[in-house]
Amino acid sequence: MDNEILFVELNINGELKYLHINKKWTLLHVLREVLNMTGTKYGCGTNDCGACRVLINGEAKNSCVIPAKNLEGKEIITIEGLQDNGSLNTIQKSFVDAGAIQCGFCTPGMIISTSALLKKNPRPSENEIREGLKDNLCRCTGYVKIVEAVKLSSVRLEGSIG
Ligand code: FES
Ligand code: FES
Repeated sequence: MDNEILFVELNINGELKYLHINKKWTLLHVLREVLNMTGTKYGCGTNDCGACRVLINGEAKNSCVIPAKNLEGKEIITIEGLQDNGSLNTIQKSFVDAGAIQCGFCTPGMIISTSALLKKNPRPSENEIREGLKDNLCRCTGYVKIVEAVKLSSVRLEGSIG
């Protein structure tokens, strides 16, 4: 039955959400249309652009192709969940300071991928940064400032500056 409604318990940004969802709904649909968490963007809807990325158990994943019903018991972190006591976190600030944002549509997904990358590899080389962000598309920038933003994040998170 395509319209079957399920009850699920999802852990989003450290809060348990109790939801009735259609079994076909993606996590992106639940975030944006049910929970009104619009920081996660709908770009392609086909797993090609990375605008919809979230962290699932620490891994950056495209939420537009993941059924929400499969995520019980997993830790989901969205761009909203990265804030630091109501302020931008270090990576978010670094994207602003490096001028890595133009229209901003790709930025939440870029920041999610950067978070996952720097957790695994706190001092990535330029090639490793480009590899880590290869599934995030930006239609505005030439990626140079985005790579700079990741480098700045890395340095700041290691406490070298600011
Ligand atoms: S909207 Fe999910 S990959 Fe493009
Ligand atoms: S800043 Fe516009 S798509 Fe990346």
